[in-house]
Amino acid sequence: MERIAVYPGSFDPVTLGHLDIIERSAKIFDKIIVGVLNNNSKIPLFSAEERVSMLVEVTKHLENVQVMAFEGLLVDFASQLHASVIIRGLRAVTDFEYELQMAQTNRIMQGNIDTFFLTTSLEYSYLSSSVVREVAKFGGDVAKFVPASVIPVLYKKVRRKEDGIK
Ligand code: PNS
Repeated sequence: MERIAVYPGSFDPVTLGHLDIIERSAKIFDKIIVGVLNNNSKIPLFSAEERVSMLVEVTKHLENVQVMAFEGLLVDFASQLHASVIIRGLRAVTDFEYELQMAQTNRIMQGNIDTFFLTTSLEYSYLSSSVVREVAKFGGDVAKFVPASVIPVLYKKVRRKEDGIK
């Protein structure tokens, strides 16, 4: 039986930390579906289509990785895809409480889906999409934080936002 895992997130935008988790989990599971949340209460910088397209580009070297947007509950999305595992990256102890709550809630809702935590590689343990957006907004160098193809897209987006263009 194929072991399918979902790696969900906002990916606003995808960082090198996310890519590291995707690459490592692609070696462990038969198939990884990266799920891009499309009904976030926070207003994202990038549309779901833009976030999916950045992820498709940065994962194109990984044959068993697919990218999809999803709405609604993560466990429903995972069930529809016959995924038995949800993957999450843990950076630091500060992530733990929220991640534990989410994993336990998901397991109560769908007992046949387990959450699998990977500890983030040390070099990315400080990294988050919100910090990356902040650095880009003030013109800082994001080359150490996001995949190369994301850099121009990110600068363009923050410039347009500053100019009030959607
Ligand atoms: O990258 P993020 O923002 O930390 O990802 C959070 C995400 C997308 C995994 C989480 O918000 C989620 O699963 N949302 C879908 C709605 C849902 O299923 N909520 C119940 C889980 S407690």
